[in-house]
Amino acid sequence: MAGPGAEFIGSEEAREVMDVLESGYLFRYGDPRNPKFKAKVWKFEQELAAYSGARHALAVNSGTSALLTGLAALGVGPGDEVIVPGYTFIASISSIIYARAIPVLCEVDESLTMDPADVEARITPRTRAILPVHMLGNPCRMDRLMELARKHKLLVLEDAAQAAGASFQGRKVGAIGDMGIFSFNVFKTITAGDGGAVITSDDNYYARAFGFHDQGHLPNRQGVEVGQRPFIGLDFRMTELSGAVLLAQLRKIDRIIGSLRIKKARFKAAISGCGDFSFRRINDPEGECATLLTVIFPTREKARAVAERLKTTTVDHSGWHVYNNMEQILNQLTVTQERCPFTCAYYKGQAEYRKGMLPRTDDILSRSMNISIGVSDAGLGAGFGITAVSGEDEIDRKAAEFVRVVREVG
Ligand SMILES: Cc1ncc(COP(=O)(O)O)c(C=O)c1O
Repeated sequence: MAGPGAEFIGSEEAREVMDVLESGYLFRYGDPRNPKFKAKVWKFEQELAAYSGARHALAVNSGTSALLTGLAALGVGPGDEVIVPGYTFIASISSIIYARAIPVLCEVDESLTMDPADVEARITPRTRAILPVHMLGNPCRMDRLMELARKHKLLVLEDAAQAAGASFQGRKVGAIGDMGIFSFNVFKTITAGDGGAVITSDDNYYARAFGFHDQGHLPNRQGVEVGQRPFIGLDFRMTELSGAVLLAQLRKIDRIIGSLRIKKARFKAAISGCGDFSFRRINDPEGECATLLTVIFPTREKARAVAERLKTTTVDHSGWHVYNNMEQILNQLTVTQERCPFTCAYYKGQAEYRKGMLPRTDDILSRSMNISIGVSDAGLGAGFGITAVSGEDEIDRKAAEFVRVVREVG
């Protein structure tokens, strides 16, 4: 139960962490002249910004914190509609709710990322932002989405939680919209167990994000004097221990993704043409993370039969990654306003949340099955497949098992 980054933890991470532990200085701020202060979080931020091609990166303690920080920095708030796909991890939607804004769910297409045509159909005068999710490491159609955002004057917050290291048409995801976020939890391309980051090339958004993640302070706590903090913030700071691990992980991210791509290509070649299924569309085959290989069957019955025999599930059953399974959100229509004060906006009939409201998404997900290449997560419907460190023998064995089952099902 882990992702690719975790499989690559080694002596480099140990060295960076020991550097911090031996100094005994675990807080992200310090005097650069103090030899005990190793500035791991700051170095990680500088290297992440450079890697992503963004002017700024801010490390935080989770991908969820990063989403909240991004929305706050962009000024998304009460009454604003934010368009988000119905196939994503629940945090993409719950962070919008906690920003007191209104999630407007949209359909995904055969890439399992938001369908730009459906996004456009859902734009209203109250739409403030689009939240594209680079789902399962596959970059969204950012050319189309940025065109829409420009045309309708909308903000774009990219949820690249599952896609650190991916790119679309030569640009790193997260750095294409106004802001982007990453998660570094245990299932991600790089990890510190937990952690997150926000990136942006806008100085103002960066300053606001920094303030939100640290009690309203200006970047690096300049202006700590009383009366100098006009922004109300919280505390989502990253510690030096996580910064140390992530610094080492980031330095190997291209090696991790390179290795996943080789394994995925071998698996895909071994099963291609063995039966009646297609592969999900990858919006930029040069730029995806290759963490998963998704197959799409012509019928849900066939998909379910194959998945059951392989002791996994079709994607529509992958827990809190599918709006139909997010009972907390669907239930907002039935619980009382007192019990859910944050979500009272929904009761005014501003948006609709019910099972089956995205028929195209439901259809595609019910016919899809995720094969793990580097993310082994039953919650993602990826209980069958290989890991980031599987050798050729294991890849061939698992591929042969898939072929056998597909042929059995017919
Ligand atoms: C698409 C997406 N967004 C946001 C998150 C939230 O990240 P975290 O678990 O680090 O809070 C995740 C985590 O799985 C995710 O997959």
